[in-house]
Amino acid sequence: MKLLVCGGAGFIGSTFARQRVLEHGDRVTVYDKLTYAGREENLQALSGHAGFRFVKGAIEDAATLAVTLEEERPDAIVNFAAETHVDRSIAEPDAFVRTHALGTYVLLEAARERELRYLQVSTDEVYGSIEVGTFTEESPLHPSSPYSATKTGADLLVQSYFHTYGLPVTICRGSNNYGPYQYPEKLIPLMILNALHGDPLPVYGDGMQVRNWIHAADFSRAIGHVLEHGELGEVYNAGGPDEEANMDVVRRIVELTGASESLIEHVVDRPGHDRRYSLSSEKVRALGWEPQVRFEQGLAETIDWYRENEDWWRPIRSGEYLAYYERQYGRALQS
Ligand code: NAD
Ligand code: TYD
Repeated sequence: MKLLVCGGAGFIGSTFARQRVLEHGDRVTVYDKLTYAGREENLQALSGHAGFRFVKGAIEDAATLAVTLEEERPDAIVNFAAETHVDRSIAEPDAFVRTHALGTYVLLEAARERELRYLQVSTDEVYGSIEVGTFTEESPLHPSSPYSATKTGADLLVQSYFHTYGLPVTICRGSNNYGPYQYPEKLIPLMILNALHGDPLPVYGDGMQVRNWIHAADFSRAIGHVLEHGELGEVYNAGGPDEEANMDVVRRIVELTGASESLIEHVVDRPGHDRRYSLSSEKVRALGWEPQVRFEQGLAETIDWYRENEDWWRPIRSGEYLAYYERQYGRALQS
């Protein structure tokens, strides 16, 4: 397949791009705006590969997109491009509206004009919080943050292009991802790097919120599986095999990094904080996908990766991230 992978310089998109080129022999063009979260070095393993090209461009930029599609003539667009951090969406929602609403619309129009397959990468957060039980694809959509509300809007627009124009779309919704190359604003890499540096570990509220963890390699395989075997117009959930309370995740990171438990600090809770996410994956399992990485093993390997890849995170931890951290947590990081 020839794929245009939008947002492929980010955490999950780059994992997917590596999988498709190196394991499936696909031709992949990554199309990415390179926001603070988009990093070309995430694609270093593909640089110089005949099946890979990188184009810098925003999904809302119809002109650059049209030139790229003309040059590459892909069979499908896979859209990872998004603003992805809930805390940033609470502080500054505008980029979330632009990328998820306008950007998705521009991509869909380009796909419609050229009759391309389209896969939207989405999130369990569109269903909102669930105290007990688990969400299926039929569950009502109840997003609670500007991040999840704009992702929900994008999903609905994608579905409208199937119903109205017959555009061949699928949507794949993942639970919380973790693994190598995740920008350290998110819970797991933030706690790993703070623990390795002896910085405080800021747990929001009581830390008893539950997340359903999936390794990015497993979510990427699910997306590839939906692209190859999914029924057009359908939504597929891909949840991880394990659910964990945040406090348990943080304690495990403390243990595995050899840091002191006294670094754990309860800080003021996130406004509108979703208590629990849980995703049923029966529908995508019926297509033959299942997660391969259990959380305990994946977390230990992820910690090893951050220990061994200071070259990757050092430029991040000394750049834009420092100012963000101070704004968000009201204190500076030790270097
Ligand atoms: P990320 O923040 O690491 O990467 C996002 C990428 O999108 C970056 O490379 C960025 O430069 C690019 N981008 C942002 N705005 C763009 C625009 N307007 N045009 C072109 N490129 C743009 O995110 P991630 O964690 O890899 O998430 C990827 C996708 O997976 C998102 O759609 C997200 O909603 C979804 N998702 C993420 C998780 C998770 O836990 N991280 C879980 C489920 C679903
Ligand atoms: P996050 O990685 O931001 O993902 P999401 O909000 O999409 O689930 O956060 C995961 C959980 O960790 C969430 O319940 C919020 C919590 N959290 C903290 O307690 N402290 C932190 O510094 C961060 C970033 C998150």
